[in-house]
Amino acid sequence: MPSPMLISASDTLEIIWPKLLEELKQGVAEASHPFRYLTLATQGLHFPQVRTVVLREITSSLQLVVFTDYRSGKVSELVEKPRASLLFYHPTKKVQVRIKALASVHAGDEFAQGYWRSLAAHNRKEYTSLLAPGTKLKGPEQGATWNEKDNFFAVIAFSPLTIEVLQLTKQGHLRIQFDQASAWQGTWLAP
Ligand SMILES: Cc1cc2nc3c(=O)[nH]c(=O)nc-3n(C[C@H](O)[C@H](O)[C@H](O)COP(=O)(O)O)c2cc1C
Repeated sequence: MPSPMLISASDTLEIIWPKLLEELKQGVAEASHPFRYLTLATQGLHFPQVRTVVLREITSSLQLVVFTDYRSGKVSELVEKPRASLLFYHPTKKVQVRIKALASVHAGDEFAQGYWRSLAAHNRKEYTSLLAPGTKLKGPEQGATWNEKDNFFAVIAFSPLTIEVLQLTKQGHLRIQFDQASAWQGTWLAP
């Protein structure tokens, strides 16, 4: 039976790096893959802020792409403080991936428009709510009001600075950090 783990102690760093990227890309390709969803942490005004978002693409320059409403809290937080952390966990393979990244927010530019064009009409609707995310409502029905003309679609591109992977194993956990500054050369870390 093939190993359910992503990484084993006999793997070299040169083998682990492409394996890790491939597994992250599976999150984009397969709707049921656990890396489809990530926890995005930003620096809020008074508290760290975390929320779940969908991984939409990993570009050829290794940017991780997320869609959102540009009126949402995460956008103003990232415009103010672009340093973000991204967290993934694969429960079957028992792998955690932590990414420190710099975010750039795109709305109305060619980068965002390219993704907008690729969205089906029912998906576009998600970015056309009349009321900004987080607006207080008198009742739930007030939230289901749509703007026919305008959209509030934004694309956040996260450029990783470090990507850290932790593989849990019965024989001893394995932890590796890859750094953009060293052309993604990896270093083993004490777990
Ligand atoms: C499974 C799941 C997937 C989600 N995907 C997204 C997403 O891709 N983009 C997004 O803006 N919000 C997404 N959300 C909603 C966010 O978690 C969050 O509630 C919302 O964006 C408001 O966050 P903010 O006020 O911190 O900006 C998702 C929520 C869940 C539960």
